[in-house]
Amino acid sequence: MLVTLLVTAAALGIAYLLCYGGIRGPVDWIMRTAHHGRRDRRQVALTFDDGPDPARTPALLDELAAQGVKATFFLVGSAVDAHPALCRRIVDEGHEVGNHTYTHPYLPLTRTRAVTRELVATDRAIAASAGVVPTIARPPYGGRAPWTVRAFTRLAKRIVLWDVNSFDWRGDPAPEVAQRVLDRTRAGSIILMHEARTGGEVTVEAVRLLVPALRARGFELVTVSDMLRPRDPAGSARGVRPRAPLTAAAVKS
Ligand code: NI
Repeated sequence: MLVTLLVTAAALGIAYLLCYGGIRGPVDWIMRTAHHGRRDRRQVALTFDDGPDPARTPALLDELAAQGVKATFFLVGSAVDAHPALCRRIVDEGHEVGNHTYTHPYLPLTRTRAVTRELVATDRAIAASAGVVPTIARPPYGGRAPWTVRAFTRLAKRIVLWDVNSFDWRGDPAPEVAQRVLDRTRAGSIILMHEARTGGEVTVEAVRLLVPALRARGFELVTVSDMLRPRDPAGSARGVRPRAPLTAAAVKS
């Protein structure tokens, strides 16, 4: 009986650590993980993960420019190194970029030193192509675990997740994706979309439908850092003191 209980407890413990991406817990309290912005201000942030992608990013940027929207792109470092001009264009057009690791691994199953390497390599790629270093990061699949905290805080990265998932990669028609987002969006929402993922071909069309509909509901579309700034001027985590934020020059060396 006792053995069964212990085995069950151990299994639950392991499951908790492996599935941390879906559960809010101590890591988020320590790091002040952002799932959304202020609920008393009608601002929302569109975020696009996994790019840059030569097939999708140009059309997405054209659409955002046509609608006059500034968005946030969580970029994969290896894709930035493969397509530096696209990264530069994202930044040049006034969008925010965030660190989405170099090879897009599931971080709770990644060694701590490898997590640091993933973040540093991506900072370097973004700095080399666009001359900026992100202050925000999004772990792939939202996966975070206690042993990844230090890597993010040492690099002065605030973790940004989302409260509205568009599921734009599932292959649903664009109007369905746009409606799903509209139904779930509240003041302060951070909306998860993708610019490079199988089945995500509808994203640009969904954005074309979504932006006027959000504005009609009185929402202003801003970047993640613009939305979080008033509440969090330092942008740093509580508990573990981050080193000075990296400058572009420091990362290039
Ligand atoms: Ni991703």
